[in-house]
Amino acid sequence: MTDRVDGRLKVTGAATYAADNRLDRLAYGYLVTSTVARGTIVSMDTAAASKAPGVLAVYTPFEPLKLYRYTKEQNDELTPPLQDANVRYFGQAIGLVVAETFEQARDAAALIQVRYDAKTPAASFRDGLPSAADPPSGSPVSEVLAPGVGSIDDALNASEVTISATYTASMQNHNAMEPHPTVAAWDGDHVTLYTATQGVILVVDRIAEALGIDKAKIHVRNPYVGGGFGNKWGIWAHTPLTAAAARALGRPVKTVLTREQAFTVVGHRPASQQTVSLGARKDGTLTAIKNDGVSSKSASNSFYEPVANLCLSLYASPNIHVSRKVVTLDVPVTTIMRAPQEANGSFALESAMDELAVKLGIDPLELRRKNDSPVVPSSGVPWSSKHLDECYRIGAERFGWSRRNPTPGAVTDGDWLVGLGMATATYGASRAQASVKVRLLANGTAVVSGTGADLGTGQSTVWAILAAESLGIPVARIRPDLGDSASPVAANAGGSGSTSTNGPAVQLATDAAKTAMIALAVQDERSPFHGMAAGDVRFEDGRLTAGNLSVPFGSLLTSLDVPGVEATATSPKNGDKTHGFRSFGAHFCEVRVNAWTGEPRVSRWLTVLDAGRIVNEKTAHNQIVGGVVMGIGHALLEETRLEPATGRISNADLASYLVPVNADVPPIDVRFLDYPDTLLSPLGARGIGEFGIVGAAGAVANAVHNATGKRIRDLPITLEKLL
Ligand code: MOS
Repeated sequence: MTDRVDGRLKVTGAATYAADNRLDRLAYGYLVTSTVARGTIVSMDTAAASKAPGVLAVYTPFEPLKLYRYTKEQNDELTPPLQDANVRYFGQAIGLVVAETFEQARDAAALIQVRYDAKTPAASFRDGLPSAADPPSGSPVSEVLAPGVGSIDDALNASEVTISATYTASMQNHNAMEPHPTVAAWDGDHVTLYTATQGVILVVDRIAEALGIDKAKIHVRNPYVGGGFGNKWGIWAHTPLTAAAARALGRPVKTVLTREQAFTVVGHRPASQQTVSLGARKDGTLTAIKNDGVSSKSASNSFYEPVANLCLSLYASPNIHVSRKVVTLDVPVTTIMRAPQEANGSFALESAMDELAVKLGIDPLELRRKNDSPVVPSSGVPWSSKHLDECYRIGAERFGWSRRNPTPGAVTDGDWLVGLGMATATYGASRAQASVKVRLLANGTAVVSGTGADLGTGQSTVWAILAAESLGIPVARIRPDLGDSASPVAANAGGSGSTSTNGPAVQLATDAAKTAMIALAVQDERSPFHGMAAGDVRFEDGRLTAGNLSVPFGSLLTSLDVPGVEATATSPKNGDKTHGFRSFGAHFCEVRVNAWTGEPRVSRWLTVLDAGRIVNEKTAHNQIVGGVVMGIGHALLEETRLEPATGRISNADLASYLVPVNADVPPIDVRFLDYPDTLLSPLGARGIGEFGIVGAAGAVANAVHNATGKRIRDLPITLEKLL
């Protein structure tokens, strides 16, 4: 259990987040956004804004900053802002005002008069469902059928018991605490950007394209990020605009999105619908799984959620069929949000499993146990390391699952109906290539650097722990240095891949630095180890040791008058195609629903998971708690309300877009199994960023059913649906 290495800096306000970079002669940008969802801008009257106090520049599609199109989508949009007069969604960036102060820029922006040639937007997911189309990428259908089975419907028809239901989930916005900031400062033809991102390299690539400059002239520095959840992966309008404005004005410029703009200028999670049919034998053995998934997709980009995909990876069944369709809408950009596909995918599948359990009269945990698959269900490839059954067993015992009354509505506590629910948690694991540099310094400390990002996940603490472990020195003597584009390229923060990808690279780089230190020790004539064979010198407990000789590495560097020794190592991507890599676990929860008001309250929670080796239980626990809290929001609260007639988001603020607060969240009990997944990497860690949210909404919905007998198939489960 290691405290966050940056915890004190963060809670005391000493950590410099992107917007905290108050540079000399800093000017402030403020975005102007569209107030129609589709059409063209006829004119923008900027006369009053340009003359307003403190205003330095007003940029619009009619007086633009030249930006070039991106060549490759990163779950964002290829079209840079202000390069044409088209409006593709409500809240699109259509101008930038730069002034001496933030308030002056904001006030001047309000003076701009925009005339549109507006068209009626297609903004309703529900209305678009009948005309859902094949997705822009990826195949529309994946299917496995047992020999002799003609179609998934044949398999369902031949099943002894079937259930079929349609589940929907609303659009959601990420709402990281830190709205998206960019500070840009030029020095000659070299630009430095302080911008909150899940990957500094992604920003370098984008800015190089947008501004038409060499990547070598771009430095992105971003050590602290106030949450990401997926929509700090892509790059959004304010970043290239701010960089271009700073270049044009010869002054550093800072632009920070308002909360309202952070609902539209950046991406959101699509709305979705899934029609799930399950076929089983009377004993609960699954014989067919079918999920027809539909996702909303912005007309401005190609990202959608293939929500049905999870059915290919979770439960054993000889026949599995998933399909993918999209409804293309005139809405802001659709993008990845914590557990894309799987957060919504698991809500439908886990609800359907509960519905099947009810129909069969089998305990829902027993039904899942019965269909636990030792192999990837769709391919037959074995899992690298799977201990789901142990998660179920430990969870059931710890939670008291055996005391659950299977009859809905049977348990009351005063005015409250009390129900228990559970669901399987899961998320895929991966290991990409990563490079990390370790520098051993004469003051006895070490610096570990790579481009990776710490969004509040604890990634920098993980780096410090692994380096400290390998060097044999306290964590306090390691300085992790993440989020600098000048560093070796490590994994961006996304896809739960940071620890699984970067961890092995930190280990390799630390080993390489120890080897370099020993080499110096035996080669330098002034060293007491001079002339020894490198193999006779050990690096242990922060010291170089051979026979009776033992010197801390810092002292040795000091005595040799060498400031430091460094090494960079690259850890390869996982090349194992003979195993499936995925984490599994189980959520258990108790939900109370008020008999008179329908108010649902989550009152107890336990999550037991197997994520491979847990490098730091404290930050890992935080990650799972964060995922479960977001899952409770997913289940009961979160919902972006888009007015179909106008395409406007009517709740683009944290007063009306509800996320869980402390009062909505019970103590969350998290237990980790700790089985290193050594087939994935020598480190054995699989990653946990998205894991906690998967299954959480399903567990809540299932508990709501157990409490009330009401099966709510549309997220969020708000109280009016329970009346
Ligand atoms: Mo995560 S949605 O891959 O940032």
